[in-house]
Amino acid sequence: MSRDREQHLRAALDTLPRIPLASIRPTPLEHLPRLSSELGGPEIYIKRDDLTGLAFGGNKTRMLEFAMADARDKGAEVIVFGAAVQSNYCRQMAAACARLGLELHLILRPVRPIDHEEVQGNHLLMRLFGAHVTVLSDADRPRQQEIIAATVQRLRDEGRTVYRPREDDTVDLDGLAYAESALEIVQQTREMGIDPKWLYLCALDTTQAGLVLGLQYLGHSMQVRGISPFEGWEGRFDEMARIANQGAQRAGLDIHLEASQFDNDNTYVGERYGVPTPAGLEAIRLVARSEGLLLDPVYTSKAMSALIDHIRTGKLGKDDGPIVFLHTGGYSALFGYATDVIEA
Ligand SMILES: Cc1ncc(COP(=O)(O)O)c(C=O)c1O
Repeated sequence: MSRDREQHLRAALDTLPRIPLASIRPTPLEHLPRLSSELGGPEIYIKRDDLTGLAFGGNKTRMLEFAMADARDKGAEVIVFGAAVQSNYCRQMAAACARLGLELHLILRPVRPIDHEEVQGNHLLMRLFGAHVTVLSDADRPRQQEIIAATVQRLRDEGRTVYRPREDDTVDLDGLAYAESALEIVQQTREMGIDPKWLYLCALDTTQAGLVLGLQYLGHSMQVRGISPFEGWEGRFDEMARIANQGAQRAGLDIHLEASQFDNDNTYVGERYGVPTPAGLEAIRLVARSEGLLLDPVYTSKAMSALIDHIRTGKLGKDDGPIVFLHTGGYSALFGYATDVIEA
């Protein structure tokens, strides 16, 4: 692997417009000795992107640095976005908008009955940051998209300059944020004298797209195994490749990825997106009690439950390590899932 490629990737990322929002960069890469020994498999290291800062941190901090710069460069006064009621993206977006003095409208989709009954976790924080929050009556995604489009139109009719993040032509910015995380991981593992074979994370699109882009560009042999938080969507492999290739083009990186280069498993989701699994809740408890670390109920706990399962069933042996687990954050949602977490 050439250090020239590292320098080139660094330089390419440094040319992108960016608004600094992260409190720490690079985020630490830490060993988890007690969890590793408890599981009796390969040594596990954790990339602490939960420590990025911006309202409890998480993977969106890096992404928002590029997305908010794009919004600023396009003259945005108002941002409109929609996701689930306990969305981490919306929580961090709300904090970023507060910091930058931008108005934010969030159209949220309930996932569980309790989403109508209490304002907790990420939802509470979005309101605290002053976002205009609408909670829809049901989880109908096409209807959510219609209401987002209508909100954008209404604001535009009022003469406001509106920005919608993560559109097809800008979503690669979020991916590029994770090419940077890949660069950090490559440099940190070298400094620590370890040579990981696998990188586990919870991912649906941008995070994995960027990580694979970064690692492939740098010629690193680490394999990325994404664990999906979402039940369906066979199109995610094509979408990851599209995001990675659009990002590579934007940053001037001479690489092209195919959908077949992405490994993403949706068998640890359980009932559906946003509903905790028994194995995920066990993972939250195990990591909390062995390492004093928090996972979240929707994303990282399901990815950790996959890693635990792969070790326990022998899919990953001691020689398959070391493993890096990317902590993408999200644990402020724990408070919105208190009943599940207490019963765990
Ligand atoms: C904590 C956490 N982990 C992982 C993900 C997945 O990120 P991506 O959509 O980039 O795959 C999300 C997305 O919302 C998240 O909030």
